[in-house]
Amino acid sequence: MARQLDEQIAGRYPVGQRLRVLDVGMGQGTQALRLARLGHQVTGLEQDATMIAAAREALSGEPEGIRDRMRIIEGDGRDTGVHFLPGSFDVVLCHGVLMYVEEPDALLAGLARMLAPGGLLSLLVRNADALAMRPGVSGDWQGALGAFDTVSYRNRLGLDVRADRLATLTDALAGIGAPLQAWYGVRVFTDTAPDTAEIPDDVEDLLAAEERAGRTDPYRQVAALLHLCGVRG
Ligand SMILES: C[S@@+](CC[C@H](N)C(=O)[O-])C[C@H]1O[C@@H](n2cnc3c(N)ncnc32)[C@H](O)[C@@H]1O
Repeated sequence: MARQLDEQIAGRYPVGQRLRVLDVGMGQGTQALRLARLGHQVTGLEQDATMIAAAREALSGEPEGIRDRMRIIEGDGRDTGVHFLPGSFDVVLCHGVLMYVEEPDALLAGLARMLAPGGLLSLLVRNADALAMRPGVSGDWQGALGAFDTVSYRNRLGLDVRADRLATLTDALAGIGAPLQAWYGVRVFTDTAPDTAEIPDDVEDLLAAEERAGRTDPYRQVAALLHLCGVRG
C-alpha cells in the first residue's frame, strides 16, 4: 500500500519536492512518520487521545529535522475546515477511517476541499463488494451467506462498521471534484492471516504476490481492502 502511494506521488510530483501532506485519522502515525522521514511536511489529524499520545511518543524518538516537519493535531476528520484553509495540501490520506464515519460523503467532500489543484486523495477502505470472502474462505458458511447483501460487517475489534463499494466511491469522488485516478486491492491472499502471525521466511515472495494481485483483475476486486486514489481537478 505504501508502495502504491509512493508510486502515485512520484507520478504527480517531481522527485525531492517537499509536499504538504495531511493524514486524517493517522492512528499511531505510521504513514505520517514515514512520509515525514521522506522529507515531506506532514500534518496528522486524529481524534483519539491514546493514538495521539502514541504518535507523539513515536515522533519524540526522531531526529530534530523530522520532528520539525511533522505536526499532530487532535480533532475530528469531519472538521478539516475548522483547522485548515482550503487547498492547503498536496496529498490527503484517509486510511482505515471511512468505515467508522456514518456520512462518508461529507467527510470526503471536506477532504477534497483541502487539496490544492492536482492534489492526491488516498483512501483505504473495507471492500463492500467482497465481504463474503473472509467468512467464506474460513469455512463460515452462515457468515458468508449473510455477507452478500450488506455493507455492514463486524471488524476485528468487534465493532459493527461499514464497508464501501468501489462504484459508490467512484461516483462520490467524481462528485467532489477528485475523480478516481487509480485503485488497488490490498490483502488479496493474506486477509485471513491472524494479526499475530509470524513473519514467514518467504515474506518477499508473499509481498510480491500480494502486490501483483492487488493490481490485477479479477483478484483485486475481491481484496479485503481497496486503496483508491483520486486527483483534484
Ligand atoms: C484503523 S485506524 C487507522 C490508522 C491509520 N490511518 C492507519 O492506516 O494505520 C483508524 C483511526 O481513525 C481514527 N478516526 C476514526 N474516525 C475519525 C474521525 N472522524 N476523525 C479523526 N480520526 C478518526 C481512529 O481514532 C483511529 O485512530
